[in-house]
Amino acid sequence: MKPTRAPQRDRRPERDRPRPGPVANQAMPAQRAVEVSAPATRQRPQRRQGALPAEKLPIILEVAPNSDYALLDSGDGEKLEQYGPYRIVRPEGQAIWRRALAQAEWDRADAIFTGDTDEEGIGRWRFPKTPLGETWPMKHDGIHYLGRFTSFRHVGVFPEQASHWDHMASMIERAARPVKVLNLFGYTGLASLVAARAGAEVTHVDASKKAIGWARENQEIAGLSQKPIRWICEDAMKFAEREARRGSHYDIVLFDPPAYGRGPKGEVWQLFADLPALTDLCRQILTPKPLAVVLTAYSIRSSFFAIHALMRDSFAGMGGTVESGELIIREKAASRALSTSLFSRWIAP
Ligand SMILES: C[S@@+](CC[C@H](N)C(=O)[O-])C[C@H]1O[C@@H](n2cnc3c(N)ncnc32)[C@H](O)[C@@H]1O
Repeated sequence: MKPTRAPQRDRRPERDRPRPGPVANQAMPAQRAVEVSAPATRQRPQRRQGALPAEKLPIILEVAPNSDYALLDSGDGEKLEQYGPYRIVRPEGQAIWRRALAQAEWDRADAIFTGDTDEEGIGRWRFPKTPLGETWPMKHDGIHYLGRFTSFRHVGVFPEQASHWDHMASMIERAARPVKVLNLFGYTGLASLVAARAGAEVTHVDASKKAIGWARENQEIAGLSQKPIRWICEDAMKFAEREARRGSHYDIVLFDPPAYGRGPKGEVWQLFADLPALTDLCRQILTPKPLAVVLTAYSIRSSFFAIHALMRDSFAGMGGTVESGELIIREKAASRALSTSLFSRWIAP
């Protein structure tokens, strides 16, 4: 199979757009800003000794239309999705094909992302039928949470991640012992809620105070307030470094970093420069009997072969298997696949 180019979808919240910094500067378009080579400031992790883990690739993990969420149709640069009660239209750069459904179906949309103002929040959405509030009730596999119209065309959930959630939940349940999960770059917390419901003790880290607030609200709405979740607003790298120094350990680590981001104190996250060090830290903070480390990457010019090679290097000597490929969403109207992100995961022996 030919190496696949990374999908162009940009999942960065406003705060994570490139700003002047040691590497990115405003003169650089966003895509180019992440292509620079690693700055000297980040020390490269030591080469790990031992045999590389077994490998499985390419693997395509697919989310099919279901009663909570469906990609109804796509084409002509847009996608039509059903999020619980609402039909939503958003731009989709990859949809260079023709729409399959009639215009009348698209005209039934409840919300359309226009992005035509600089306003924060709901102002960038248009509601053709009736004005909607900022949030609405959503469900994933029985877990209730809030969908949300955000200023950066996101809706508070990335449905393609459900493939990882299901896999993680079954690992936690099969383990039949206490399992500790670390969710770095956790956003509105769906992965954390799925892990907690499956019985894990969860640590959720995100740089955005707002996202942490939304995630806590989701925990309440899901009726999972009694479950052990630590919500931490911090830079993911700093947190992982501290956990390594303290000797804290986790059985499962999830990390879904943006191409470019900022910690709460302005710490700069650049995926190509920082991912090797963070991946190595994820290995350092594993328990003696770990289960998995799951990496997702999006909005980068790369192939899953790149993160696959990084993960195999990083888990050398640990046994197990590194599986890599793409997360896709299967469209309902014409069964087309919409690729959303690359992933690579190390599964313990
Ligand atoms: C696209 S979201 C991850 C989505 C999440 N995995 C999910 O499935 O819902 C990226 C998140 O990374 C956070 N972020 C960006 N830079 C960060 C940093 N340096 N440290 C920690 N979190 C960061 C953002 O606030 C955002 O919530």
